[in-house]
Amino acid sequence: MKKVFIKTYGCQMNVRDSEAVTALLRKRGYGIAVRETDADIILLNTCSVRDLAEQKAIGKMTGLAHAKKRKPGLILGYMGCMAQSRGAELLKTPAINLVVGTQKFHHLPDYLDQLTGRAGCPQPAAVVETPRRGEDTAPYQILDIKDEAGSESAVKHHEPGAVTAYVSIMQGCDMHCTFCIVPATRGAERSRPILEIVDEIRQLVDNGVKEVTLLGQIVTSYGRKKSEFVKLLTAVNAITGLERVRFTAPHPQGFGDDLVAAYRDLEKLCEHAHLPVQSGSDRILKAMRRGYNREKYLKIIEKLRAARPGIGITTDIIVGFPSETDEDFEATASLLREVQFDQGYVFKYSKRRDTPAATMPDQLPEPVKEDRNQAALAIVNAAALCHNTKLIGQTVEILVEGRSAKGAKRMMGRTRTNKIVVFDGNERQAGQLLPVRIERATTVALYGNK
Ligand code: 5AD
Repeated sequence: MKKVFIKTYGCQMNVRDSEAVTALLRKRGYGIAVRETDADIILLNTCSVRDLAEQKAIGKMTGLAHAKKRKPGLILGYMGCMAQSRGAELLKTPAINLVVGTQKFHHLPDYLDQLTGRAGCPQPAAVVETPRRGEDTAPYQILDIKDEAGSESAVKHHEPGAVTAYVSIMQGCDMHCTFCIVPATRGAERSRPILEIVDEIRQLVDNGVKEVTLLGQIVTSYGRKKSEFVKLLTAVNAITGLERVRFTAPHPQGFGDDLVAAYRDLEKLCEHAHLPVQSGSDRILKAMRRGYNREKYLKIIEKLRAARPGIGITTDIIVGFPSETDEDFEATASLLREVQFDQGYVFKYSKRRDTPAATMPDQLPEPVKEDRNQAALAIVNAAALCHNTKLIGQTVEILVEGRSAKGAKRMMGRTRTNKIVVFDGNERQAGQLLPVRIERATTVALYGNK
């Protein structure tokens, strides 16, 4: 039996895609290798959102191509976003056998059958499949995955025994943020019907899942009609046996009063919102084509904090967008100080191919981006530590997910506000909602005792 190892880069959507592909390959009779060195086939599920993510995967593949000299039968492939955006040019390294874009995962078992000779036909040296945007009209890709699995339930595509699960509700993105490559790598927006999503979650709950995260590039555009996303949240909230609901990633524009009210009214919806602000300068927000200004953004935060006191609010920031002045950056820094986010992810602007920002004048030098990155991080980290420190001495409810790391003695779970809590416990507690007393805090985690 040939064994496959999949290494995943990037976002939760990629994690979910890797799970689904793993299930498809298992069903086709492939084994899943726990270690890369045991594998006959290695696939890198790639990310394109920043150049660094692409370079990581390319660096990894270069190492694997080298290792292939000692193991000539090894099959190497790129899948996912970078495969989609770079396509056949990735085959320049002769050691690479396979490049499969985001819309074509369901063909992977066939391609691997061909490459391993299982299909009974001559073995091709390489396969590439990356549809161009608009070419693929499939309404929603998971349907294709289901076809492959026949009548089997979607739950078979999830990690067995898990307490939490990602559930894909839509794919693609129709926003046109000028810095972002995602519309090109993930295609146009397609939503999955509510009933199908609810059905999948019911099955997950029957299998022991307590918390689901609804996934999509822009979940607040779900169904493309106003309030459709809130309708979905309401339906999921009503599922018996489910304890917690989360979603990612939303767009600030999608936080209308109905969604704010959902935070107040839906008891399973966790009090955490990830609201990527990107910049605090109105001029830069406009150049990014974000569709809101600083004032509107701050208003949303104010409403959310009023609807759910104690809500955890996290964000993404881009520093060094083309033409960003010291004054623009200061506007971002002041917004960070004003909001005091629970956590923030700061990124240096990275030029992406075929995006409008890549050809804008006044691209900033790397040292300027680096300085602003450090300055923004210092504010973000100070706020995170302050929020976390306030919890010392308090007892919080966590959902226990499992061991804190592979082989570690301590257990980990999350608060409803999405903070990681590490504590002394035992494996039997996985899946339980437990009160934990917080004793110590860092910028990224809380430590406590049962
Ligand atoms: N450069 C830097 N950061 C980017 N992001 C998206 N595109 C870019 C880019 N070209 C960041 C945004 C987004 C997060 C997922 O990645 O902050 O919210």
